[in-house]
Amino acid sequence: MRQTPLYYYSSASGLVRSFAERLERPVFNLAEREHRASEADGPWVLLTPSYKTGNDSNDTIPEAVRRFLRSDVNRRRLVGVMGSGNRNFGRHYQMAAREIARRSGRPVLFEFELAGTPWDVAEGRAILEELDAALAAGALPVE
Ligand SMILES: Cc1cc2nc3c(=O)[nH]c(=O)nc-3n(C[C@H](O)[C@H](O)[C@H](O)COP(=O)(O)O)c2cc1C
Repeated sequence: MRQTPLYYYSSASGLVRSFAERLERPVFNLAEREHRASEADGPWVLLTPSYKTGNDSNDTIPEAVRRFLRSDVNRRRLVGVMGSGNRNFGRHYQMAAREIARRSGRPVLFEFELAGTPWDVAEGRAILEELDAALAAGALPVE
């Protein structure tokens, strides 16, 4: 069965990378130009942190994530979004993942804080395995 790949952005602090690398499936870091400029070869899941910039638009979506989503192919093949955030940011908690989900019409599959606990990792793995099975069964409307 195909393992749905996960594309993530992680800053120098590496919290999201730590979570992604414990999922035991293909993961690609959008901080690397090679991946940011590529096209997903089928259904894929996005994992993004939120970064409040403090400017007027209060943008929280990392530029690398925006860049990857500029591709029509990538936007069409996106099947769901996961988010890493920090509840200290109050109403901005998970804003990037939620905004991408709202704008793309795809579901938020999972949210966790920082690098995630071992329980978060287990839950993330289980959610992605269910998604793999649903996609293999043709139970989701993908191109
Ligand atoms: C400057 C800054 C702004 C942040 N803004 C938000 C935010 O608006 N909402 C949120 O949920 N988390 C926010 N966070 C928390 C990060 O999204 C969270 O720590 C994430 O795990 C970082 O992942 P990374 O280390 O892989 O970059 C912010 C963190 C920093 C340092």
